[in-house]
Amino acid sequence: MQQRKIGNDLKEQRRESQMEKEKLQELLQDMSLKEKISQMFQLNANFFMDDAVLTGPLQELGIAQEDVNQCGNVLGVYGAKKVKAVIDKQMENQEHHIPPLIMQDVINGYKTIFPIPLAQGCTFNPALIKKGAAISARESAVSGVQLTFAPMVDLVRDSRWGRVMESTGEDKYLNSRFAKAFVEGFQGNDLTDTEHVGACIKHFAGYGLPDAGRDYNNVEVSQRTFMDDMLPAYEAGIKAGAVTVMTSFNTINRIPASGNKWLLRDILRQKMGFKGVLISDWQSIWEMTSQGNAENEKDAARLAVKAGVDIDMMSNCYVKNLEELVLEGTVSEEIIDEAVYRILELKNKLGLFENPYKGADEEKEADIILCNEHRNAAREMAAESFVLLENDGILPLSASDESIAFIGPFANCKEIHGAWSMIASAKDNISIKEAVQDAYPNGTFYFENGCNHIEDGAKISGFGSVVTDFFTPEEEEEAQVRAIEAAAKADKVVMTIGEHRLQSGEAASYGDIKIPSIQMELFRRIYEVNRNIVVVLFNGRPLDIRELKDKSKAILDVWFPGTEGGNAIADVLFGKKSPSGKLSMSFPFCVGQVPIHYDCFSTGRPLSAYKDQPTRFCSQYVDIPNEPLYPFGYGLSYTTFEYSNLAISSDTMTKSEEIMVSVDITNKGDYIAKETVQMYIQDVKGSVVRPVRELKGFQKLALKPEETVTVTFTIDESMLRFYDGDMNYTSEPGLFRVYVGQDSSCKEMVTFTLR
Ligand code: BGC
Repeated sequence: MQQRKIGNDLKEQRRESQMEKEKLQELLQDMSLKEKISQMFQLNANFFMDDAVLTGPLQELGIAQEDVNQCGNVLGVYGAKKVKAVIDKQMENQEHHIPPLIMQDVINGYKTIFPIPLAQGCTFNPALIKKGAAISARESAVSGVQLTFAPMVDLVRDSRWGRVMESTGEDKYLNSRFAKAFVEGFQGNDLTDTEHVGACIKHFAGYGLPDAGRDYNNVEVSQRTFMDDMLPAYEAGIKAGAVTVMTSFNTINRIPASGNKWLLRDILRQKMGFKGVLISDWQSIWEMTSQGNAENEKDAARLAVKAGVDIDMMSNCYVKNLEELVLEGTVSEEIIDEAVYRILELKNKLGLFENPYKGADEEKEADIILCNEHRNAAREMAAESFVLLENDGILPLSASDESIAFIGPFANCKEIHGAWSMIASAKDNISIKEAVQDAYPNGTFYFENGCNHIEDGAKISGFGSVVTDFFTPEEEEEAQVRAIEAAAKADKVVMTIGEHRLQSGEAASYGDIKIPSIQMELFRRIYEVNRNIVVVLFNGRPLDIRELKDKSKAILDVWFPGTEGGNAIADVLFGKKSPSGKLSMSFPFCVGQVPIHYDCFSTGRPLSAYKDQPTRFCSQYVDIPNEPLYPFGYGLSYTTFEYSNLAISSDTMTKSEEIMVSVDITNKGDYIAKETVQMYIQDVKGSVVRPVRELKGFQKLALKPEETVTVTFTIDESMLRFYDGDMNYTSEPGLFRVYVGQDSSCKEMVTFTLR
């Protein structure tokens, strides 16, 4: 009973300190092959809960109960009490009593829900995002979660893809800044800390650009685009210390990511220096058989383990085949040992050997989840994520001087947390109606739904399937009539419309990106009786909102704002706060423009070159403009900011020098407001064509009325690098333009030459 003895030694060890590396090696050496493999797969809650019926997944996967008992990684069990029970059971079952790792998707909050990541991107405020991630870590950690499958840092350009809501947007620099902020917030300084969780950078790699915007589709990008644009955010998350990485469902260079040796060994491990645990996405190893890259499950296991995937999420490939692959000599036991060592090391880093329950604590759960401090942070972040797309002066509203009709399916709706906040309950959310009535009890307000979110029977997404509580056609008509009556008697109308919260997220790709027609019909009927319309737009992706732009006096994009959404919306609508969000993703004119991104390339026949001499032979659409409806970085405020005195410290720079670019910003309006000053650089000529401009810096600052602040950016050579004609990551001498302004279409610029 040598193994039992080591188990007891380990318990001793746990009491003392974090396990020494040699002890980990000793443990590894003492484990049987089977036991090692039990560390290399992950199963979800269905397999562990006493009350869970072992139906579909278990039967489909064909995993024996004995293997379930040994499984070293658990997904989706949460709540301190339940987690502790699962941990006890797994440890009891295992020969060496190795604690299981408890993982969960905590994307934009656990119970206190922050805005969806795409909206968080619009804050241009990494400090705020870090704070939100720290709160999410805290709430989930006390509920037993030890590692979150976040942040998702995939670069996104196609709003047909429902998962754009999980990303911080279309820009590699912005995404990199946020990847770092998320990782730092989740993980803190000490992973053994009971109020932090491990982070996971996903989905490696390139998952954000599925062909034609269809989820799980293949990805076709050039190697240069992949390296230059898609990798930086993953790399930033890894540099920030993320302890795990998740593979993606798609192919890269036509090889599925989960079996792609070049991607996982050469790029991730070697080039990026990632030393942590690599986990597959849900069944993505097994899916290589459908993708036509693996002959069967055994072959898929071979490909994945050789490529360096340490944990197989929710498939039977590893658990059923690795032993045989090793015994027959197809896979060396060293590869298994490397993977298992990384997994044990991760558990050790998280402090699980000393403290298998880590943060799980029923009392703290009751105390801190949804506490005021967390709610206030969610409210602050939500308000800062809202993007004012239009305003002719109708906003802010006044609760004392005008009557206001809040109309639309979100007027009195608590379903305002995004699709990936599955642990949250709508009952904890604050609706617009609750917030407005609470803040302004004496105001003259009307609240009418007017219609459902979507048409009866309409399919929403793979996650949420179908909404059930529909109005009957008669009720629908009555609801519309009530809404029209309210609109007719009010001074102003706030139309609260947009996507249902489950219309974006995983498995929610759409061929069109419009607001459900039932809501647009309501909008048109309201427009007939009252034209003082402010649209409050709910969405998980940029939508085609041309008609709203034409017919409304203001549009405030609030995305899916989360738990404190109603309060944050009231704060902004009534002017307690001026909006300061800037788009993290361009709003296309219509679906025909996607994929679209501001950092595109000039063509040989750019439309701008033919402004004065129109020609049919230039790069343009015949029926729609080239420009998006709203560009990346765009967003209005209740005040106006004047930019002046753009200057550069030198018009030449050597590779070892730095130069400064400065600009003065003045708040010309009556509101205290925040502005995000953005700096874009264009490399005018390169050995490969260079983007028309790229974001290289931003600063967000608050200004009082009439206040002027000088903002300075430093430019150094490292900011000018790219993959050149020979795939060297370098900068090239020549002319650069530096644009500074309010969004990615800003025109003011200075130039310098790199020598
Ligand atoms: C998603 C991942 C997620 C995993 C576990 C998959 O379907 O693609 O992002 O982390 O499920 O829930």
